[in-house]
Amino acid sequence: MEVPAKILVVDDELQIQLLLEEFLTSLGHTVRVAGDGEQALQLLQREAFDGVLADLKMANLGGMELLRRIKLSHPTLPVIMITGYPTVEVAVEAMKEGAVDFITKPLRLDTVRLALARIAGNRSSRQSIITQPSVAAISGPPPLSTLPGKIKELSILYTISEAFETITETEAIFQRLAHVACEIVGAQCSSFSILDYESDSIRSKTLKVGDEDYLLEVRSTMDVRTLNWLTKERRPLLFNDEQPGIVIPVFIKNELLGILSVWDKQQQGAFTEEEVLLLLTLCRKAALSLENQFLYESLYQSLLETLKALVTTLEARDPYTRAHSQRVSRYATALAAKLGCSKEEQEIVTVAGFLHDIGKIGICDAILLKTEPLTSAEYEIIKVHPVIGEQIVQHLGYFSREKSIIRHHHEWWDGRGYPDGLMRHQIPFLARILTVADAFDAITTNRPYRAGCPFREALDELDCWASIQFDTEVIAAFRHVIEIDLPRAALTR
Ligand SMILES: [Fe+2]
Repeated sequence: MEVPAKILVVDDELQIQLLLEEFLTSLGHTVRVAGDGEQALQLLQREAFDGVLADLKMANLGGMELLRRIKLSHPTLPVIMITGYPTVEVAVEAMKEGAVDFITKPLRLDTVRLALARIAGNRSSRQSIITQPSVAAISGPPPLSTLPGKIKELSILYTISEAFETITETEAIFQRLAHVACEIVGAQCSSFSILDYESDSIRSKTLKVGDEDYLLEVRSTMDVRTLNWLTKERRPLLFNDEQPGIVIPVFIKNELLGILSVWDKQQQGAFTEEEVLLLLTLCRKAALSLENQFLYESLYQSLLETLKALVTTLEARDPYTRAHSQRVSRYATALAAKLGCSKEEQEIVTVAGFLHDIGKIGICDAILLKTEPLTSAEYEIIKVHPVIGEQIVQHLGYFSREKSIIRHHHEWWDGRGYPDGLMRHQIPFLARILTVADAFDAITTNRPYRAGCPFREALDELDCWASIQFDTEVIAAFRHVIEIDLPRAALTR
């Protein structure tokens, strides 16, 4: 139980006032509220308080000045500063001025409760946040209430707040989560176990810090009983065995996504309450990033499917181009893999392959579906389609990597292509790949003016255009892809 105290809350945000008043009252404290520093000083003149929670940024006497004045009139009164803009400099200044603690917005009630425990000086009254019977109570070193400790705590909070900022891959978020978890509690090992609902199993990524980021995929040994407990209780579970460890469930929209496990602390001993709270904060941050990532991926997939449907419809109107983009995408992806492109580059080529001719939507049917040879004026109009395609995907905001490949898929190695007349290595490498795949499919499928070429003849024809229209290196790899890598039977013609 908390020791009842009389607390002065100073904040100009009504929501924060109400939140703190309700929470502190629920803990049995008496609460008075002031909307700014001036009001707070007036209340302090009239009434006695056990502690003050003050916002840093307020009109009419800000928190820092209020702190200075309180320290002049009530030198022993504990003051906790609150801020939405934490920096090490501000924290140092507040602590130098005599603040006993420094907490950050958005407020977390467990953090507020811990800070109040410091006011009361009653650490023993802190209620364990974990009550699973097989788990030992949280214990550990004294709170980080000293200045160096506070700076360290802020620096850790900063690390957590920035942990997932630039990461856009789900797997990378899992890895970062495991890595930062080790970092902030000084542990040697951590893992993130992903629940695979389809196969009813747990996949586990185990990260060993200090071993050159050696990543090992292992089967989790987590038992069903523990899993059920975590799902039901939604709380961390501590193991204070010979090797102390902690497992924390990570939920997204009420569904258990996975479990963070951390163990093998460098400084032996149980996990402290501060460490548990930091790990919980990290997990919440990861869950938010993952949720955003899932949302992004789902929107991206819907948009891509819509565009693919559009291309399919566009091609279906002309029997000679039916399923052309689908085949080009397939050839180009296999070719990119053959040429040693990364997984990400292969994915870009797959998508660009599907969408490369989407700009033809802006060309009138009289030209697009014409079966006779095009006039030079008509050909000039057709040549605009890569630019229209680039503009279409550019405005959707999701295809920044694919747009230049779409724009340049008709450039020639010798500079005689369109729309920009780029030559040789000026042409993006992935566009050079797509160009070969596109040409091969055009040669091997029937056109109004000729029958499709057999594959081997088509490859010979491409060879004739090496160093003129195509990159020689790409042509050589493509022959290998068609003759050896892609089983002929699997190719849809
Ligand atoms: Fe094209």
